[in-house]
Amino acid sequence: MSFRKGVPVGLFDSLKRDRKPAETVIREQDRNVEDGIDIETVEVVEREARPSVIENDLESKPIKSFKDKAPVTHVVGQTKVVAIINQKGGVGKSTTAINLSAALGEIGKQVLLVDLDPQGNSSSGLGIEKSQVKNCVYDVILNDVPIEEVIIPDVCEGLDLVPATINLAGAEVELVSEMARENRLKDAVGSLRGKYDYVFIDCPPSLGLLTVNALVAADKLLIPIQCEFYALEGVTKLLDSMKRVKSRLNPTLDIFGVLLTMYDGRTTLSKQVVEEVRGYFGKIVFSTLIPRTVKLSEAPSFGQPITQYDPTGKGAQSYMNLAKEVVQRG
Ligand SMILES: Nc1ncnc2c1ncn2[C@@H]1O[C@H](COP(=O)(O)OP(=O)(O)OP(=O)(O)O)[C@@H](O)[C@H]1O
Ligand SMILES: [Mg+2]
Repeated sequence: MSFRKGVPVGLFDSLKRDRKPAETVIREQDRNVEDGIDIETVEVVEREARPSVIENDLESKPIKSFKDKAPVTHVVGQTKVVAIINQKGGVGKSTTAINLSAALGEIGKQVLLVDLDPQGNSSSGLGIEKSQVKNCVYDVILNDVPIEEVIIPDVCEGLDLVPATINLAGAEVELVSEMARENRLKDAVGSLRGKYDYVFIDCPPSLGLLTVNALVAADKLLIPIQCEFYALEGVTKLLDSMKRVKSRLNPTLDIFGVLLTMYDGRTTLSKQVVEEVRGYFGKIVFSTLIPRTVKLSEAPSFGQPITQYDPTGKGAQSYMNLAKEVVQRG
């Protein structure tokens, strides 16, 4: 057991964290299929129940506004907008969104992370208490609130955040009847080009309208794939969606990289998955493998990226290596 700020964190906490929401989701899905209610919305509500910084009784970060932002210390190059995407749940999208963004911030890049998942895991994982958030990405997409008014600056060194709250769960349904519904996020993020080196979008685990908004807004995709038996399940469907958006709405969209997550070097399965994924995607797979470590699953409960929570551990090291690879890829 380890302790931080007086709060005990046991190994089993992260196991409980993983298991409870999954069980609840299945039960609610069954029930609501019968009721004829939107399944994905319900899934989101239940996953919101995942313990967060609030349940750990920690102080959340004071929420600043964009006008308090520290001056940028270098000339920003061309902004690259990267959606972290895989409709499969629990593959490490939010973990990668938080820790890659923070690692790039630490090596001097200006980064914006847009939390586009109603679960808001990127927001709580960076220490933002969602009940304190006035406007979130929902208001940018549906209420025409300028994105600058929603940005929380300097959540970590070099890293700003557009938070998500559970309000976003309604967006999938409300977007259906809106004009230019696929372009909402692209228009908002477009106004930030030249202000950041990287804009990352943490996508929800579905291929609904929010994800389509991310596919339209993004220049590139970063696809995390978990080293497990069904690693490539659903990837064909994701690539189909990408092709459809590419041919109709975003012709320059492409894959930036495929990232293997939760790698366990002690198992043959992990090694086989690496081989299979490298065989399927070739060179676009990052050389960096993200190891399965308890520290990576603990860090969000403390509202900290791994580079702060356990700066010398192998989780932090792997995300720093990934950040360097990302920079090298341009
Ligand atoms: N490298 C890792 N080592 C150990 N645990 C990890 C690692 N990466 C992610 N996890 C844990 O696995 C769970 C799922 O990770 P995460 O939330 O990042 O996935 P996700 O793809 O964003 O999920 P969702 O589809 O629900 O948004 C979390 O509890 C997280 O803490
Ligand atoms: Mg997530």
